[in-house]
Amino acid sequence: MNPQINSEEQQLIDLMDSARRVFVFCGAGVSAESGVPTFRGMGGLWEGHRVEDVATPEAFQRDPVTVWRFYAARQAGLMGVLPNPAHQVLAAMERHYPAFLLVSQNVDNLHERAGSHRLVKLHGSLMETRCTAHGTVTTIDAPVPLPTLERGELPRCPEGGLLRPNVVWFGEWLDPDHLARIEQFLQAAEREPPGSLLLLSIGTSGQVSGGYGFLELVTALGGHTVEVNPEPTPFSKVVDLALRSPAGELLERVWPQVVQQRLQCVVAQKEP
Ligand code: OAD
Repeated sequence: MNPQINSEEQQLIDLMDSARRVFVFCGAGVSAESGVPTFRGMGGLWEGHRVEDVATPEAFQRDPVTVWRFYAARQAGLMGVLPNPAHQVLAAMERHYPAFLLVSQNVDNLHERAGSHRLVKLHGSLMETRCTAHGTVTTIDAPVPLPTLERGELPRCPEGGLLRPNVVWFGEWLDPDHLARIEQFLQAAEREPPGSLLLLSIGTSGQVSGGYGFLELVTALGGHTVEVNPEPTPFSKVVDLALRSPAGELLERVWPQVVQQRLQCVVAQKEP
């Protein structure tokens, strides 16, 4: 065994080696090593902001300038950050496993920039706007300028419709197409050998995502469940394996071992 790998990490490597259908569920912790603040805890985004003032449809109706200032600042924050090894390994995993789905609550664009495609952005995207009049979603490549917002000028579509950030706010429904895609991906495990399905929950506190029920569904389908988070969460007691490490640091170390182990297995199968 590699001396840099402890026994829990080896268990993760073995699970990743034997998995045939991999479902990764991410939260803000995945982007923490890129310097993007998480939501909860010290220095988190919700410190100094009341959720109901910046992340609800009512707040936007009441005071769209304040809401836009909050999101424009977060858009600007994305300009100076880069994907970290966690994003990169997740993109590499997608190329490795034929059945793979990455579901992220993160509204930053770091998964896409690392090369992930089989990606569901469950809470929307910071770099997209949605027209409140026409519903049109548009990708933007620069932050909404703060000085125009300071003057009280709000972003509008060419026909004058008010644009909002294309993110899911508290009190709003998740996109049913996203939920259908996730369910279809997970249910396919029923037609596969037991234990083929693996869920990795990475960098989420479970405060919001605990209600989504993905972990329970994977368990009911006979899959394995793993959490990666430096802090304990409500998921920690119910997963098969909980690793207390920063995601980038851990994935960067274990992923080459998974690839090596899988290659050795292929070679062993081919030898007469
Ligand atoms: P949270 O801020 O609630 O939780 C972030 C988690 O990441 C915490 O459990 C940290 O311990 C963990 N963490 C920190 N650094 C880490 C690292 N380097 N590697 C791995 N984990 C690390 O963020 P989310 O769970 O994503 O919703 O929050 C879910 C949703 O609630 C967000 O999408 C947002 C928020 O309010 C909306 O805005 C609708």
